[in-house]
Amino acid sequence: MNSTSYTKIKGGNLLEGNIDVSGSKNASLQLIAASLLTRETCQLGNIPHLTDVLNMFSILKNLGAQVEQLDRHVWQVSALRVGERVSQEDGSKLRASICLLGALLARNGSAVVALPGGCNLGERPIDLHLRAFEKMGAEVNFSGDYVSLTAKDLHGADFSMMGPRGATVTGTANVVMAAVLAKGETIIRDAACDPEISDLCHFLEKMGASIDGIGTSTLRINGVTSLHGAEFTAQYDRIEAGTFFLMGLLCGKNLKINHINKYHLQGFLDYFGAYKKYFDFQDDFVVVNRCDSLMPANIVAAPHPLFPTDLQPQVTVLCTQAKGNSLVQDKIFPARFLYADELNKMGAGIVKRDGFVEIAGPKSLRGASVQITDLRAGAALVLAGLIAEGETFLDKVIHVDRGYENFEERLRSVGADITRVIA
Ligand code: EPZ
Repeated sequence: MNSTSYTKIKGGNLLEGNIDVSGSKNASLQLIAASLLTRETCQLGNIPHLTDVLNMFSILKNLGAQVEQLDRHVWQVSALRVGERVSQEDGSKLRASICLLGALLARNGSAVVALPGGCNLGERPIDLHLRAFEKMGAEVNFSGDYVSLTAKDLHGADFSMMGPRGATVTGTANVVMAAVLAKGETIIRDAACDPEISDLCHFLEKMGASIDGIGTSTLRINGVTSLHGAEFTAQYDRIEAGTFFLMGLLCGKNLKINHINKYHLQGFLDYFGAYKKYFDFQDDFVVVNRCDSLMPANIVAAPHPLFPTDLQPQVTVLCTQAKGNSLVQDKIFPARFLYADELNKMGAGIVKRDGFVEIAGPKSLRGASVQITDLRAGAALVLAGLIAEGETFLDKVIHVDRGYENFEERLRSVGADITRVIA
């Protein structure tokens, strides 16, 4: 273990009791960016207390906005004055800083944001974002690690957000935020129709924006001259909910997961129809039990509403317990399999191919020291540690803090033997 803190898990416990899903990280990051679109005060609720969220708020403060935390999960933003430049230091803290481009362009007519680096998911280009902004009248320039946009006359346009691997989520969010204050009508075709984009659009509507087609892949936006303040409560985190659902199938004993919206997870839950006797959905919760007869699967992660790429690493852990050969493919991030090397240190026996992995289950996992390569890989390694024989030590656990609030405490509250060790 070579970092200042790591997480230790002793596997084998069945997890029982109530676990609450937090507010959605990815919806919150977009809502925070959108609060820059008005000079009036916005109040955002159900915002998870995560490092990515805190970093996003600190970027807003550095841009000149007033930011106040009213409660652990409630924030107020008053962007009376807003600068145009997001520094390299700020921008490099999280990918979602790129979501500020559209809001700053709409607010100031110009934006300078550090280019998001690549990461362990593979390439993270923004060509689709920039192509759309150019169609709306923006001039794009690059200088060093920065991209700058200027648009003296930001106007509506008709374009597609489709990329080689499907629609871009933050790209869609970016152009929606530019379009709500652009002159005229914008038609965004092949828009990402993820629930987080719908949250953003509903918040913008409450601020006075005019958006048709919310929840579909064609958004029609009539630009307005200004937006007013509004209050909005973020949806719950469907990726966290899906992670806990898989945890229940792996080691749950009447594990009750509160705040799961099954309509946000249809493409994921469709794969578990054969396991209906192991879970029971009621209203906004589900009770899940360990399944000891998992069958192999062919999982294909693809754009919403299909199986979410952010649950791809976690479902691979489930496949290691299935009796037979499974295949997990990721059409969005074909390089998102670094975690497999770490799972193989635990005896998973995963074979990495180009854009997919093959798993010959079942495999009895054994505890090991493993490295967390990204947020969702971290979640997968936690799931593996919970069912492994012996102790697992997870290094670089700060990645998990980016997307799962107080996850050790919440897992301990349902019986997991998990502790954070400050070395
Ligand atoms: C968002 O990332 C999420 N992040 C990701 O969640 C999520 O995995 C991803 O959408 C896909 O659902 C946030 O919302 C902050 P993309 P994003 O733009 O927007 C290609 C997590 O763990 N592409 O939809 O960056 C790109 O290479 C994170 O919470 C272009 O080609 O993803 C990729 O293959 C991880 N050109 C695909 O599209 C572009 O201009 C999807 O990327 C943009 C993207």
